[in-house]
Amino acid sequence: MSHHLKGRVQIVGSGAIGSLIAAGAQRNNIPYSLAPRRPEQLTQRLTSYSGQRLLLADNLSQAEALGPTDLLVMPLKVHQLEDAARQWQDRLDQATPVLLVHNGMGGLESVRRHLPYQPVYQATTSHGVYKPTLQEARHSGFGRTIFGEAPDNVNLNDTQLQIVFETISRCLQPVTWHPDITEALWLKLVVNAVINPLTSLHDVPNGALAEHRFQPTIKHICQEMAALMQSEGMMFEPQLLADQVRHVIDATAQNYSSMHQDIKHRRRTEIDAINGFIVEQAQKKGIDVSVNAILYEKIKKMEAAYS
Ligand code: PAF
Repeated sequence: MSHHLKGRVQIVGSGAIGSLIAAGAQRNNIPYSLAPRRPEQLTQRLTSYSGQRLLLADNLSQAEALGPTDLLVMPLKVHQLEDAARQWQDRLDQATPVLLVHNGMGGLESVRRHLPYQPVYQATTSHGVYKPTLQEARHSGFGRTIFGEAPDNVNLNDTQLQIVFETISRCLQPVTWHPDITEALWLKLVVNAVINPLTSLHDVPNGALAEHRFQPTIKHICQEMAALMQSEGMMFEPQLLADQVRHVIDATAQNYSSMHQDIKHRRRTEIDAINGFIVEQAQKKGIDVSVNAILYEKIKKMEAAYS
């Protein structure tokens, strides 16, 4: 049976991934609203992966409140989530589903400070999208999206799960449902812990990380991650993690990572939620993650130079 969203997709912000979701909604005639913090940041056009230009002409103005048949999508960085959750908390029905899409970890915890009982869903995507200008987005890398339900949802609602899954499948295809989204987020964390800081520090596109000179560092990070994941009950061979990282490096070879773009545009990066999170967790467990710690410090220095 197919389940359709009866309301709208309300997207918070107007970042690259949010713009891709908006374009997917428009193509599928799903009512949507892309709501930037400042009007000049609103994405107006998206160039699709096949090169078609799409005018985001169906964009509704931001909803005053959202009911149980709407979907609130927060494709924001982890450090932006707590504020956004605070702003929306009084405007949501207790059953309005909320979808988080971000790199790194800690987003769910931030949102829970203001929305402790909200039904939350999480997704991680490897689509490459960037905004060459404030009003324009480009879908430059065709990836895939993994989707699942937050592990701490109190009321499990299979119909809602189906509706959110089908909606996001249309907007960010192809989407796979994962019964343990936390594990999928950890696997993506490994990819981001390698690609994002290394491409930023060396000022290279993702594909350059296939070069011989980067392999010892990548191997070391994957060993650190395997040890940390093991302490969280997830058993992955370092080599398997390294293979996965390599797969993403090859699949997104031409792209510049999101952290590389953040640094280029002098924006705050996601380093705290990626290598910072890893260092923090490892400290609690007494696990050595010195390569992650070095990368963390170096990116923090780069950020401090312009912030
Ligand atoms: O953050 C990014 O840029 C992306 O998550 C990824 C997968 C590393 C590709 O660039």
